[in-house]
Amino acid sequence: MDGPSGSGKSSSARGVATRLGLRYLDTGAMFRAVTWWMLERGVDVEDPRAVAALAEEPVLVSGTDPQAPTITVDGTDVAGPIREQAVTGAVSAVSTVPEVRTRLLREQRSIIGDGDIVVEGRDIGTVVAPDADVKLYLTADPAARAARRTAELSGADVAATEQDLVRRDAIDSGRATAPLRMADGALHLDTTPFTLDEVVDQIVALVQQARATT
Ligand code: DC
Repeated sequence: MDGPSGSGKSSSARGVATRLGLRYLDTGAMFRAVTWWMLERGVDVEDPRAVAALAEEPVLVSGTDPQAPTITVDGTDVAGPIREQAVTGAVSAVSTVPEVRTRLLREQRSIIGDGDIVVEGRDIGTVVAPDADVKLYLTADPAARAARRTAELSGADVAATEQDLVRRDAIDSGRATAPLRMADGALHLDTTPFTLDEVVDQIVALVQQARATT
């Protein structure tokens, strides 16, 4: 499941995984966790060489229970801190660094293993799991996305969040390595008019259809 921030990916991915008894992986949380670690270490996140040099250092552990996703870095629970503004402001820069992407790609594929998992991010259908049974590309109007994200993030206001979303979209879509784009064979779902339950219903139906035909 790919798409920009606030498109409804996280809530719907967790809802679908819970309904279907599948595992769940939030790859954005992994990029955020690396970013949190870089900031803690005082690394200049705008310097790709400095970030690349330390890309392999932080030890990440990602839990895959959709009802209680967890993430630790070097043993510290960072589920809260990775949603703070400092990390949100720096994560796009860190995720443009190829060494960071290569390292996380390796770990994402290892967690995915044989499947039975809902994975969300920006490059899942294009790079991480191009052979996934179901590929989805979720979008929503920027104003709706900003409102959703403001509700999720601590200490943010809607206008600043919308500005930040648009800025991150530009970086995420424009970067050279694994830019955000719809994968071949992905289904596009605009979640703006739907409730979370409606989005989950639609995706569950698509997964069941795909299972019936494979
Ligand atoms: O989904 P999110 O907003 O928590 O993701 C945080 C950042 O991580 C996002 O700005 C881009 C990056 N990201 C990425 O480059 N590739 C992914 N598969 C997931 C996230």
